[in-house]
Amino acid sequence: MDTQPAGTIAVFGGTGKQGGAVIDALLSRGARVRALVRNPESERARALAGRGVELAPVGIGDAASLSAALHGVDAFFFMTTPEGTSPAEIEGETRQGIALVEAAVAAAVPHVVFSSVGGAERESGVPHFDSKRRVEEHLEQSGLRATLVRPVAFMENFTSMGPSVENGEIVFRWPLPDGIPLQLVSVRDIGQISASFLLGTAKAAGGAIEIAGDERTGSQIAAAFGAHAGLPARYEALPLHVLGDNEDAQAMFRWFAETPAYQADLGAVKSIEPTAWDLPTWIRASGWGQG
Ligand SMILES: NC(=O)c1ccc[n+]([C@@H]2O[C@H](COP(=O)([O-])OP(=O)(O)OC[C@H]3O[C@@H](n4cnc5c(N)ncnc54)[C@H](OP(=O)(O)O)[C@@H]3O)[C@@H](O)[C@H]2O)c1
Repeated sequence: MDTQPAGTIAVFGGTGKQGGAVIDALLSRGARVRALVRNPESERARALAGRGVELAPVGIGDAASLSAALHGVDAFFFMTTPEGTSPAEIEGETRQGIALVEAAVAAAVPHVVFSSVGGAERESGVPHFDSKRRVEEHLEQSGLRATLVRPVAFMENFTSMGPSVENGEIVFRWPLPDGIPLQLVSVRDIGQISASFLLGTAKAAGGAIEIAGDERTGSQIAAAFGAHAGLPARYEALPLHVLGDNEDAQAMFRWFAETPAYQADLGAVKSIEPTAWDLPTWIRASGWGQG
């Protein structure tokens, strides 16, 4: 970028994956960033401050703290997250999002970017997708200028739910029938694409975009890890009951198996972020298998 962007961009969730990636992308483009944090003393918050990010302490139940933190900003990124998988915790995600939208209204923020989830608007019946849809609806009715970013499954899921190496072979097991392509996105690209919207260097047609950088079946995911490790690879589809009594996760994996679940247009994503990562790129960049 030739000139440093003017103004300040506010980010909620900057100590987490998505917000952290948004801040990385904004800082790399020379933007000024204000992070809304619940604990400015946390290690991650202090690390942001060390990189020149302004910290604004907020409480999600403290409307005045939220609107004060958004005062005077040019754009605002937020994501929402349930604290757990119970219906009450998932309902809390909607309350969190509505509180942030209301604060943006009170502070008259010129542009709000909300990272929701792919398929939120398609009546998936997945509880933690429906909770995000209610935030989208609140935002749509708020009168704010808004952009909805709808990410598909994170490649980062493979750091905790990825393949293992067993007797010299890569084995990947997920509760998803093989042969069903699942769209995938790197958190890095959520950051890059959201930053482009926040800084006004890109626009989403119709104000919303589902984003993905790759699409693979279970066997193809296993093969990508196998190629990286130089090992043979296989996929084993697990039954849904391995998810135990987590009805939210069961609903999501059931929805994944109904093709097409996620429906991002990979070409449209590339036109906004030409360097969007496919799975092999994420595997290399993540250092997978090195620790
Ligand atoms: N995994 C996937 O495949 C996938 C795909 C699409 C969408 N999603 C959605 O992505 C969301 C999670 O995003 P993420 O991975 O970026 O989350 P994350 O890494 O867990 O980070 C959550 C962030 O939110 C902040 N936060 C949470 N509750 C807060 C509160 N009450 N007050 C202030 N800050 C609060 C956390 O701050 P602290 O540091 O203080 O905790 C942290 O910065 C979920 O809603 C999930 O459904 C996930």
